[in-house]
Order: sequence, then structure tokens, then C-alpha cells
Amino acid sequence: MSASVSSKLVYLDENATATPDPEVMKAVFEWQSTWPANASSVHSLGRRARGAIEQSRRQVAQALGVNSRHLTFTSGATEALHTLIAGLLKPKDHVIVSAVEHPAVWGALSKLDVEIEIIAVNEQGQVDPQDFRKAKKSNTCLAIMMAAQNEIGTIYPIKEIATALGNTPLLVDAVQAFGKLSLKLEETGASYAVISGHKVGAPQGVGAIWSKGGQSFSPLLKGGAQERGRRAGTENVSAIVGLGFAASRMEQRLKKQIDLVQLREKFRQNIQDLFPNEFSIVGDFSTETSWEETILNPSWLRHGQLPNTLSLLALQGEGDLLLQQLDLAGFCLSAGSACSSGALEPSPVLQALGLSAKQASRGLRLSMGIQTSDEDLRALIRQLTLMYKS
Ligand SMILES: Cc1ncc(COP(=O)(O)O)c(C=O)c1O
Repeated sequence: MSASVSSKLVYLDENATATPDPEVMKAVFEWQSTWPANASSVHSLGRRARGAIEQSRRQVAQALGVNSRHLTFTSGATEALHTLIAGLLKPKDHVIVSAVEHPAVWGALSKLDVEIEIIAVNEQGQVDPQDFRKAKKSNTCLAIMMAAQNEIGTIYPIKEIATALGNTPLLVDAVQAFGKLSLKLEETGASYAVISGHKVGAPQGVGAIWSKGGQSFSPLLKGGAQERGRRAGTENVSAIVGLGFAASRMEQRLKKQIDLVQLREKFRQNIQDLFPNEFSIVGDFSTETSWEETILNPSWLRHGQLPNTLSLLALQGEGDLLLQQLDLAGFCLSAGSACSSGALEPSPVLQALGLSAKQASRGLRLSMGIQTSDEDLRALIRQLTLMYKS
């Protein structure tokens, strides 16, 4: 292993957890350190906490283009997905699910006695919306499709899928799209969506469910009457404050995504020019739409790739070893989704794209954040040069 060319840590694992937004964290610490009372208490401090939660709800609602009364706070997207999946499906129901969903979806489904129909993807990880229509049966009660893929960055045509599904409700995992694309959920035709705070600079351990028209679902956590009976448990007020504050800064975040595209494209070109025998790029996401339009005004009819994400395949050696070597040199990247990178199994998402298990075990995900600089990516190129060319 060659020496490192980087004297600082270069963090390129934003799809796992985004770099905390310092302004957001300031608000979180301030709240946490000034008597965070229980929001269910009726005294003044409790009412102050309740007020903070409701303000966050309005901020999140504004960022998502929805009514704040239709939002339920949770401990994150995994809980949100489990809540909706368990709360909307009955035994023997038929559910349509894309092949590239997050493990949280598969985990929630595995606990139920339901009939699962999987929608295949092409080599870009893209689905055909009409496959959702064709998969419908008389007992289809739900379809599940993410808005953007966490490992490869594919953006999905949610509106077309919702249209193809007709009256079958669509649950959208919007975790990776939130903060990277303008999300106006009411316009998508979806019925439910979930988001997570730690992908947008807010703390870990907070997320939310949106249900169209405030449609009810039975709660996963039963107990107190918090969140209007939809999610029992004392609210994590400071984390909710963080999510709200991060949501209120969404416009700046989205504008920075446009700059990331240029960095990412330059890096992609460098990889193709300098390492044609060492790496290949997963997917060809060229679209006719401008990136600015894709990010700031997604019609949800277009395809494309998240502005910050690039998925590579190492053509030689072991993927895990490469990650470790980069880690030792100060570069934080991921093999695929963070949840599976501790394990040695090849990425199921890359396999769903048609790659062999061997190829899928050599996946490398770069996901940039709003603080990623050209110098960070140049340092990575220098590091790879040191590792492969010296
Ligand atoms: C697409 C997607 N869905 C769901 C989750 C789970 O979110 P959380 O960490 O809030 O439970 C993640 C997190 O990696 C994700 O990327």
C-alpha cells in the first residue's frame, strides 16, 4: 500500500450520512442545552417544545410542498418505512416493489405474510413505469418505489409510475432525493413518502412520513398520543428542530447541487481517461434535460442521476481491500449502501442491474456533499494514481 497524498479526511459518503450543517447543529445544540421539556407537558416549557415541533413541521412541509398536517415525525426513514408497510398491508395482500429498494423496505416486508412482486431494472437501475401497471392484480394494495437510488443515484419517474398505477397507492422512499432534488410531493401523484434528517445535514435519528390528504395508517408504535396517535413516544425535539431548520435551508442546498454536477462530471472524465483498465462507471445517465432543470424543477417524468453520486466498479482486486486502502489514506467512500458495507456480500442493487456477484463485490460509491471541493476530488485522483500507477 502506498502512502497517502491527503493530509485531511476527504468525506465522500454523503448518501450514508451527510456532513452535518453547522448552522443546523447550532440550532440543535441550543435547543438541547436550554431545557428541552416534554412536548406533551401542558406547562410553559412543554408548550415551548410543542411550538418548536410545530414550527419544524411547517418548515418540512414547505420544503416538500405539502400540508404540514399531513406529516408525522419518526426516528428516521427505517421506522417510517416499517410503519407504513406494516400499517397499510394485511395478510395475503399483493405488493409491487422495485428490485432496488433499500434494505429497510425488504426488512419490513419480510415480517409480513404478503405476496411480493418485484419490478426488474435495466443496466441503469431504471424501471419501466408500465411494468407497474402490468404487475397489478385484484389484491394489489400498495406499490413501493424510491425517488432516487442510494447506491447508483438513478432518479425515478415517480409521476409516470403513479399514473401507471392508477388507484393503487404508491409509497415513495424519498430519502435520497430530499436535499438533492426539489421535491414537491403533492405534484407526484404518490400517496405516501418518507424522508430522513441525516441525509440533509440534520442529526441522525429523525425522519418523517407524509401521507396524502393526511390519510391514516395504523401506528407501528402504540402508546401515548404523540403525533396525533400515529407515532407514540416522546418526541426527539432537538432532532426535529434540526430537521425543520435543515428543511428551511433547502433552497441553498439545492443550488449547491448544481455545482456538484460539474465536479462529478470532471471526476468521471478523469477516471475514464486515466484509469480505463482499473475502473468502469456504472450506468450511462446522459439526458436531454439540463441539470439545473433536473435539480430545481424535476417534473418527475424525466430520468437521470442524482447530482452528487457516482458508482464505479473496480476491474481488478477486491472491492473491500480497495475501500480499506482508501480509508487508510484518508478517503471515506462506501461499497454500496452503508447498511451492507460492513458485510462482505456483493451489492444486491448492482446485481439487480445485471452484474455478476464478483463484479457487484467491486462496487465503489462516491457521494459528494455541498462542501466537497474540486481539490478533494483531485486528491482522490492523485491517491488512485499512487495506488495503481506507481
Ligand atoms: C434510500 C434510503 N431509504 C431508507 C434509508 C434509511 O434511513 P434511516 O437511516 O433514516 O433509517 C436510507 C439510509 O441509508 C436510504 O438511503
